[in-house]
Amino acid sequence: MNEIIKCTDLSYSYNDGTLETPVLNSLNLQVDKAQTIAIVGQSGCGKSTLLNLLGGISRPCGGKVMLNGIDLAQINEENITNLRAQHLGFIYQFHHLLKDFSAVDNVAMPLLISGVDTQTANEKAAQLLTDIGLQNRLNYRPTELSGGQRQRVAIARALIGNPNCLLADEPTGNLDAKNAEETLELMIALNQKQKSALIVVTHDMKIAAKMDSFLTLENGKLV
Ligand SMILES: Nc1ncnc2c1ncn2[C@@H]1O[C@H](COP(=O)(O)OP(=O)(O)OP(=O)(O)O)[C@@H](O)[C@H]1O
Ligand SMILES: [Mg+2]
Repeated sequence: MNEIIKCTDLSYSYNDGTLETPVLNSLNLQVDKAQTIAIVGQSGCGKSTLLNLLGGISRPCGGKVMLNGIDLAQINEENITNLRAQHLGFIYQFHHLLKDFSAVDNVAMPLLISGVDTQTANEKAAQLLTDIGLQNRLNYRPTELSGGQRQRVAIARALIGNPNCLLADEPTGNLDAKNAEETLELMIALNQKQKSALIVVTHDMKIAAKMDSFLTLENGKLV
């Protein structure tokens, strides 16, 4: 098996009981190990919704998502959480950092959760933050960081567990051109060093052009 993610006939609608908002309609996607993919599409077309389904954060209304050969519909919430921790790194559109924790603590968190000792986790987190230029901000909290700095902390947090697949939702949206370029290089370096796949949602055509493939989400499908 060469695919890390495969989804078949994936459908999704938001439904608040009175209003149904169809978003994805029989969408198919296969992502092979070490493949890099850009997903583009108009605001509101369903890109973030798709990433949440790929990571098992929300459940499909139809069709299925396979992560490393395992059908997410066939396993319970706890096993999905473990599978996600084992294989995926998430960089969210809105970074979701823990506001009461420092940059180092935020980045070290996934390692601590998976049982790594505090000193090792903190050292690795500090190294990764240093690699992306935040060596002088290790003990700052998210509210004490700029938008771009927060995004870099979020990227470090996604990378620290050496995931097989990185899911990134507009990872450079809050960064200036130089930081965006560096961030992209960091993600591509991981992809090459570790043969990890990379799925990037972006509006930036420069980023899209650097990926192996380029898909557009339109009318609930990838084309
Ligand atoms: N909780 C919700 N309830 C109802 N509709 C929702 C909900 N969340 C999102 N939507 C709708 O689903 C559609 C897809 O949203 P999504 O966030 O996936 O878009 P997106 O492609 O990521 O957009 P952007 O590029 O602006 O981030 C949008 O039209 C939005 O209005
Ligand atoms: Mg979005």
